[in-house]
Amino acid sequence: MSARYQVTGATAVEISASIESGIRSAALAPGAALPAVRALAAQLTVSPATVARAYQELRQRGLVVTAGRHGTRVRPRPPVAARRSALRPPPAPGLRDLSLGEPDPRLLPPLGAHLAGLAADAGPPVGYSAAGVLPELAEAARERLAADGVPAAELTLTGGALDGIERLLGAHLRPGDAVAVEDPGWANLLDLVAALGLRPIGVPVDDDGPLVEGVRAALAAGARALIVTSRAQNPTGAAVSAGRAEELRTLLAGRSDLLLIEDDHAAELARVPLHPLAGATPTWAFVRSVSKPFGPDLRLAVLVGDETTVARVAGRARVGAGWVSTVLQRLVLSLWRDPAVAGLVDRAAASYERRRGALVDALAGHGLAAHGRSGINVWLPVADETSALTALRDAGWAVAPGALYRIAGPPGLRITVSSLDDGEVAPLAAAAARAVRPAVSPGFTA
Ligand SMILES: Cc1ncc(COP(=O)(O)O)c(C=O)c1O
Repeated sequence: MSARYQVTGATAVEISASIESGIRSAALAPGAALPAVRALAAQLTVSPATVARAYQELRQRGLVVTAGRHGTRVRPRPPVAARRSALRPPPAPGLRDLSLGEPDPRLLPPLGAHLAGLAADAGPPVGYSAAGVLPELAEAARERLAADGVPAAELTLTGGALDGIERLLGAHLRPGDAVAVEDPGWANLLDLVAALGLRPIGVPVDDDGPLVEGVRAALAAGARALIVTSRAQNPTGAAVSAGRAEELRTLLAGRSDLLLIEDDHAAELARVPLHPLAGATPTWAFVRSVSKPFGPDLRLAVLVGDETTVARVAGRARVGAGWVSTVLQRLVLSLWRDPAVAGLVDRAAASYERRRGALVDALAGHGLAAHGRSGINVWLPVADETSALTALRDAGWAVAPGALYRIAGPPGLRITVSSLDDGEVAPLAAAAARAVRPAVSPGFTA
């Protein structure tokens, strides 16, 4: 633990508040080790049970993690930072930053004309009684989902995919319950699972989606929910194939004790067909976000599922945040209805596919087997993340450490290709090859 930070307090509440304050002020950095329970108890002259309660409370809120003999540490991205960007230090000046996982802003549809259209046709202000899901948006969403084979009789909206997933987990699970998540999987989802006090069980992934054996093992270990990324899996780019979907549907059939959640965040941008699992279990939800094709700032996702699940999410929202603003709904509808926007999304999808393919091929040319079947990321397995990350940084490239995305899976790096220019592919692949396999020093040749 930081030598500068003194934990204080005489009760579990005071001790956990003191540690939280240390994390907030960055005196306790991500990864910092907290003192052993007995040592802190002796220092504060309280009982070990009091310190253990404080640690337990921080663990349930995802601020710290306890890992066997490694003791208790501050989580890499504890949910107390003010902004998402505060979760990662800015890359050094001059570095080409491929660590962000953002769509290329140059490829998002411009909103100006659509906002002007809304302004011209605003109508009277919408009050509490008239608000909710706009029937015309629901109808358009159902059409789009039906075209992909997703049953969408029951439908509601959330503030993005992750908000939908949070609401689904909150409606069905309790702190301490186990959730099966892809490993490697989306870092923000792992952060959310920790912040909800849920226990992640990692399910290994290959290019065709979660491994059947991994899902089987997670079910046997008591998972109450399973979250599957349909396409553009983050960080590996996996997309659930027809064969894998079939196998998973068979495995999951009739599991009435499991909440099945599908995250189709890339949606229209994915360029690979959707093979949904929707309806394989009695309790299920399918969430499709507009973030990647139309823009992360739109904060809207369509959530469909079985009647009880959708009613729980919509009913809970009604006594809380209420609804997704109809202003936003009308903007999304306007984008969906514009054939020029569909053309731009198609162009963006083709561009991501080209960049991803080019980098995977260039890495293969150096003998490196990287993954990237769909989406905006390429996953490069490496033996040692820290040395590969450092060597790439020294060569001018910032990429994301696989540790943010892994539970027990093997190490790797995530390279976001969304903004990668053609001329950058070859030098990046060459730098990656040197970073992964550093040249042997002449002094050590046999
Ligand atoms: C796997 C996955 N799901 C969902 C999202 C987007 O979620 P949201 O709709 O909350 O913006 C992302 C964004 O990176 C993602 O990687």
